[in-house]
Amino acid sequence: MAARRVRWGILSTGGIAASFTGALLDLPDAEVAAVASRSEGSAKAFAERFGIERAYGDWASLAADDSLDVIYVATPHSAHRAAAGLCLEAGRAVLCEKAFTLNAREAEELVTLARARGVFLMEAMWMYCNPLIRRLKALVDDGAVGEVRTVQADFGLAGPFPPAHRLRDPAQGGGATLDLGVYPVSFAHLLLGEPAEVTARAVLSEEGVDLQTGMLLSWASGAQALLHCAINSGTGVTASVTGSAGRIDVPAGFFYPERFVLHRDGREPELFEAAPEDGPRDSLRHEALEVMGRIRAGDTESPLVPLSSSLAVMRTLDRVRGVVGVRYPGEG
Ligand SMILES: NC(=O)c1ccc[n+]([C@@H]2O[C@H](COP(=O)([O-])OP(=O)(O)OC[C@H]3O[C@@H](n4cnc5c(N)ncnc54)[C@H](OP(=O)(O)O)[C@@H]3O)[C@@H](O)[C@H]2O)c1
Repeated sequence: MAARRVRWGILSTGGIAASFTGALLDLPDAEVAAVASRSEGSAKAFAERFGIERAYGDWASLAADDSLDVIYVATPHSAHRAAAGLCLEAGRAVLCEKAFTLNAREAEELVTLARARGVFLMEAMWMYCNPLIRRLKALVDDGAVGEVRTVQADFGLAGPFPPAHRLRDPAQGGGATLDLGVYPVSFAHLLLGEPAEVTARAVLSEEGVDLQTGMLLSWASGAQALLHCAINSGTGVTASVTGSAGRIDVPAGFFYPERFVLHRDGREPELFEAAPEDGPRDSLRHEALEVMGRIRAGDTESPLVPLSSSLAVMRTLDRVRGVVGVRYPGEG
């Protein structure tokens, strides 16, 4: 018997909203039923482009649409708290883009709200839904590299991003750390949990957001993570996990890998490859499938992207920003 279709609402009409809507339209058991924008014109144009039935010129109307099973929030991070909060208040399940919020305080507020209402909430950390990343984690948890000593990961984009771009705008939560650093940080958290110590150095822009940031995270076990993010240079976007008995190398595009190599000490390297149907960008599909499975099951949280992890990552990002001196409007 075919699974019941899950009805999605899309909140905002920018770049990732379009990509995710495209991924949903490829899923036979997903329906994109409504879209909202801050302007009716954008909502209508988006609805026409993707064949969506209802277009709202405000978020509240989308949140009030009780035909929807779940709303995907894809505004800049600075608006995640307000947009996701509105939907949760109305009793709607929410998939909220990364970075989950501007800071850990806002993340706590959303999680508290979702739990009080008993509704589903998940950060759109698609990397955690990627089958090959899940395989890598299972191998590491299983001791394939021994005790983890070092995690390295980077994500830098060359841009250039003009001063008006959201990545340069403090009011929109700009800077490398929240937008790109969240991937290396989430990768390290996936394997090691929340770090005991966090230090960092950054180069700040005239606007006061970080153009590039190097982070050193450490754990009581002695493990360290060396992480880097940048919006002023295109880095290799690779990762490695080194332990007492071996190493895993993940090539470019480490958070949606097509392959990785496990080097166990004294053994031939082992290649792990994505399934043929899992192209580099298919993590969005896996993320959507995870959400739909949870919603159908009546769950309020995903074990693949637990809220405890999103909260811990936000605390680490707060600590990084605290060290390098990036503060957003409204933060004390
Ligand atoms: N998962 C991924 O792979 C991925 C990739 C890229 C981005 N993201 C995340 O997704 C979010 C959006 O990124 P994007 O690249 O799609 O950005 P974008 O192209 O600038 O789109 C953001 C949209 O949000 C709305 N918006 C703009 N400024 C706003 C403001 N000040 N307050 C409220 N809404 C505003 C606009 O839609 P309306 O005009 O319709 O209101 C805009 O089109 C970010 O949090 C980012 O980190 C995730």
